[in-house]
Amino acid sequence: MAILETIVVAFWVMLPAYVPNNAAVLTGGGRPIDGGRTWGGRRVLGDGKSWRGTAGGILTGLALAGLLNLVAVDVGSALGVELPEFPILAAIGLAGGAMLGDILASFVKRRTGRERGAMFPGVDQLDFVVVSLPLTALLATEWFTTWFTLEVILVIVILTPILHVVTNVIAYKLGLKNEPW
Ligand code: CTP
Ligand code: MG
Repeated sequence: MAILETIVVAFWVMLPAYVPNNAAVLTGGGRPIDGGRTWGGRRVLGDGKSWRGTAGGILTGLALAGLLNLVAVDVGSALGVELPEFPILAAIGLAGGAMLGDILASFVKRRTGRERGAMFPGVDQLDFVVVSLPLTALLATEWFTTWFTLEVILVIVILTPILHVVTNVIAYKLGLKNEPW
């Protein structure tokens, strides 16, 4: 694959994993997943991980995957790149894995004494990749190995932190997020 093509494929296959975090910011609030419980004197996850935000994030990711399936052929031919449709298990792995990774990161943040909203460089930017890729590999193995080539994974690891920083600064400036990370 040419480098530009690799970047387009990497961005496309990761869209159902990218969008849930942002959708959670918009839909979040209400009852926290940990129900307010603490562990070792600190919240298990914190108020930043709510049931509503988690459900909103996953559902938005699944809906987006469905939408992308409708336009994959047209967008692909317009860009001159072959773009995949998302089998339901792949969409679940990407969207569910992204939310799960984000939740696990909050768990780690609380255990290491970081308050809600505290910055955790590296983890904030890649937590969802670390879980969504293995989960997708597990749930949709053939699809995963076809599209997530080593080159694509390498581009994802480089591209994701950049996209994460840019989208979060925008969300912060728009007043949607409390911190720019
Ligand atoms: N959010 C949510 N449920 C999730 C993930 C996010 O409700 N599973 C919402 C919360 O309102 C959260 C906001 O999205 O405050 C931003 O998400 P994030 O940066 O992940 O949470 P933080 O508030 O920074 O908390 P943490 O330190 O635990 O990451
Ligand atoms: Mg945060």
